[in-house]
Amino acid sequence: MASFKTKISGTGKYHPTKVMTNFDFEKLMDTNDQWITERTGIKERRIAKPEETTVSMSTAAAKMAITEAGIDPNEIDMILFQVTMPDQFFPNSASFLQEALGITNKCACLDINAACSGYLYGFTIADSLIKNGIYKNILLIGAEKTSAFNGFKDRNTAVLFGDAAGATLLSRAERSESSEVLGTILGSDSSKKDSLAMPNGGAASPITKEIIERGEEKLVVMNGQVVFKTAVKTMAQYSAELLEKSGLGLDGLDWFIPHQANLRIIEAVAQMVNCPANKIISNVDKYANTSSASIPVTINEAVASGKIKRGDTILMTAFGAGLTSAGVLIRY
Ligand code: UT7
Repeated sequence: MASFKTKISGTGKYHPTKVMTNFDFEKLMDTNDQWITERTGIKERRIAKPEETTVSMSTAAAKMAITEAGIDPNEIDMILFQVTMPDQFFPNSASFLQEALGITNKCACLDINAACSGYLYGFTIADSLIKNGIYKNILLIGAEKTSAFNGFKDRNTAVLFGDAAGATLLSRAERSESSEVLGTILGSDSSKKDSLAMPNGGAASPITKEIIERGEEKLVVMNGQVVFKTAVKTMAQYSAELLEKSGLGLDGLDWFIPHQANLRIIEAVAQMVNCPANKIISNVDKYANTSSASIPVTINEAVASGKIKRGDTILMTAFGAGLTSAGVLIRY
């Protein structure tokens, strides 16, 4: 069996320009900046306009990643598109993106959904396809228009989310390059699946007049404390396992990029794995929880600012509806 190494060859992001602050929420519902800041670390988030879709946002992010990688879009062998709520149920979003990028090579197009963990699920799938010599270049997207399923009514969930798209081009690395994937872990605990869910709008519960009358067409059901505790426990466990199995340990780690859902969750995980604050990269204050876009956006910003350099080790971990969890350790 062929065995190749995977590298990140390009990164990109897109954020809508419209900023919605905690103070804007104060005008909409019974909440306040102090509560949101203390419980989540979030100060503001970006909200897409009607014409900004997961595909349009990911097109902009993908163009950045392709330019950074310096490849022709037709060299892309596969588009792997993580989206929790697609613009349209079918055809899949990856096919729309293929067209938007002008790719004519008929590359493979696949959507996946592991909610906020989906980018790292996609990373693991892409790594395995590259490692096994099946593909050389895979465009991985995490794009979420969370405002499309945020009713902006329920203060328990409304303040937590934001819109964004992140793109990462994963490519086969030359043997001489130091870049590689050092370990991945994926999992899901379906016994807690009801603690974060959107029950209506799918085939099992299509939107009816009655659902609209009850105001439940965009209902996100969440037990915040169950999600919080599970997230901290699982992300800390995956992080510790990856650091140990790789032999890297904390001393060998340069950067820790957890899913940007809540600063308290990030800090609790870091504390459990003894990760010092100066290794944590976070932007949750500016963008809130952008679900699967949060990690690729953070990588893009850290690469663009010169923080992350070639050869650095990066630990990424995420959790989301499912409750899914994931961890990926790489040498950039
Ligand atoms: O990608 C996964 C997405 N989900 C998550 O990341 C959620 C994870 N969980 C969390 O981040 C936290 O559980 C929350 C931020 C959602 C809540 O923080 P908490 O420390 O667990 O809050 P709490 O349960 O101690 O406080 C809840 C109280 C309730 O009031 P009562 O019943 O105690 O009177 C809520 O009604 O806070 C109230 N509350 C709010 N108050 C002001 C809930 N949302 C708000 C709000 N503004 N936006």
